[in-house]
Amino acid sequence: MNWWETDFATVKGNKLWLAGRKAQDLAEKHGTPLYVYGKNAVLGRYAILEKVLAASSPVDAWICYAIKANPHPGLLSLLRKRGARADAVSPNEVEAALAAGFPPGKILFTGTSVSLDDLERVFGIDGLTINIDAAEQLEIMGAFKRKTCPKKRIRVSVRWNPGIGRGFNPRVITAGERSSDGTPVKFGVEESKVAGVFERARAFGFDPVGLHQHLGSGWVREDLATVEEAVDKMVGKAKELQNRGFPLEFLDFGGGFGPRYARGQGLFPVERYVRHITRTVAKAGLTVKAIAVEPGKFLIGDAGALLLRVEYVKESYGNLFACVNGGTYNTVPRPAIYLQAFHEIVNASRVDGRPKARLTVAGNLCETGDVFGRERSMPLPVSGDILAVLCAGAYCRSMASNFNLREIPREVLI
Ligand code: LLP
Repeated sequence: MNWWETDFATVKGNKLWLAGRKAQDLAEKHGTPLYVYGKNAVLGRYAILEKVLAASSPVDAWICYAIKANPHPGLLSLLRKRGARADAVSPNEVEAALAAGFPPGKILFTGTSVSLDDLERVFGIDGLTINIDAAEQLEIMGAFKRKTCPKKRIRVSVRWNPGIGRGFNPRVITAGERSSDGTPVKFGVEESKVAGVFERARAFGFDPVGLHQHLGSGWVREDLATVEEAVDKMVGKAKELQNRGFPLEFLDFGGGFGPRYARGQGLFPVERYVRHITRTVAKAGLTVKAIAVEPGKFLIGDAGALLLRVEYVKESYGNLFACVNGGTYNTVPRPAIYLQAFHEIVNASRVDGRPKARLTVAGNLCETGDVFGRERSMPLPVSGDILAVLCAGAYCRSMASNFNLREIPREVLI
C-alpha cells in the first residue's frame, strides 16, 4: 500500500480511484483540470473529531468548519446537515454560510482589518457572534452600535494572541509577537489588553460570550507540545476572566491540525490534542458551556484531489518535465506560494507502472515557480495520462486565481 492511500484515494488494477470512481473516468466525463472531493471522506474525518470530543468533553463541543479552506456550497450544506457550525472570516463567508442553511447562532465571524462596511453587513444579522481582533476594532464597533442600534443585543468574543504560534511555514503562523521569519503577527489582542477589551465591550453594551485563539495552520507531530502549551495558557486566561466577572459561554481553540501531506511528515495526533483540551478545561473549574475547534484542513485537506492531463513530456538540459494542462495559481497554488508546501502527485493512469523517471510536473503559466512538484520519481507518463495532485481539498480552489487569464477548474463533490 502506498503511504498516501486513504478511504478517498485508493489503487485498483494499477489505476487511481477517488471516492470510489476511477480517476480517468472522472477526467473523461468532466474534463480536466478537475477538483474531486469525497463526501464520505469528509464525513469520516468529521466523525473522528466528533467521537473524541463526545467521549472526553465535559461540556458541549462545537466543530466549526473553517469556510476559508473550501467554501464549496455542497460541502457547506453537507457539514451543516451533519451538525457543524461555521467559522467565517469575511461578510461574504458569513453569507455563504447563511445560504447553506447555517443559522446565525452557529456562525462566528472572525475578521481582521475589519472595515465599517464589513460591520454594517454583519451587525444586521441577529444571533451572529462577532469575534474582536483588536481593541481598536472594538472602539469602531462600539461607536457604530451607539449610533445605529444602542439597545440591540450583540454577541461578541475576543480573539486573543496568546504569544505562542505554530504553523508549517512563517506565513501561516498566526500568533506570537513575530512569525518565525520575523514578520510581526497582525492577529488578535495581546495578552495585557484582553481583560480591558472585555470590560470595554460590556461598557458598550455588547454581550461578551467567548474567548478565541488560532495559532496557525499545518501542524505536525512535533508541534504538539507547543500547541498544548497554548491551550493551557488560554484556559488560564479564561479562568482569570471568569474571576473578574466574565463567565464565558465558549472557548474556541481554532484550527491548525491537518492530514499528512508528505511521506516523511509526522502525523499530528489530533485525538491526543483534543483530549488535552477537554482534560484541561475539565480540571480548570470553568463555567463554560462549550468548547470549539475550527478545522479546515483536517476535514477536507486529504478528501480532495486535482486531476490534470499530461500534454507531453519535455526534455531540456537533461531535465524531464511532465507538462500538464493546468497552472498552479489557477488550481493548487500552495506549492507556488509556500516553499514548504508539498503535494504528492500520482500518475492515475499507471500508478505503479514502469519505467520510472524523475520528472518536474510543470504547469501552463509563465513562471518558473509554476511547478506542482519538483523532480519527483514516478512512472514515466505518456501524453494523455492523468496525474492527480493529492491533498487538494483545502486552500486550493479557495486560493485559486485567474492568473494568465486561465480558468479555475470545475469541482465535483462525490
Ligand atoms: N480558524 C481561523 C481563525 C483561521 O484563520 C484558520 C486558518 C482556521 C481556523 C483553519 O485552519 P486549518 O485547520 O485549516 O489549519 N493558506 C494556508 C492556510 C492558511 C490558514 C489560515 N487560517 C495554506 O494553504 O496552508
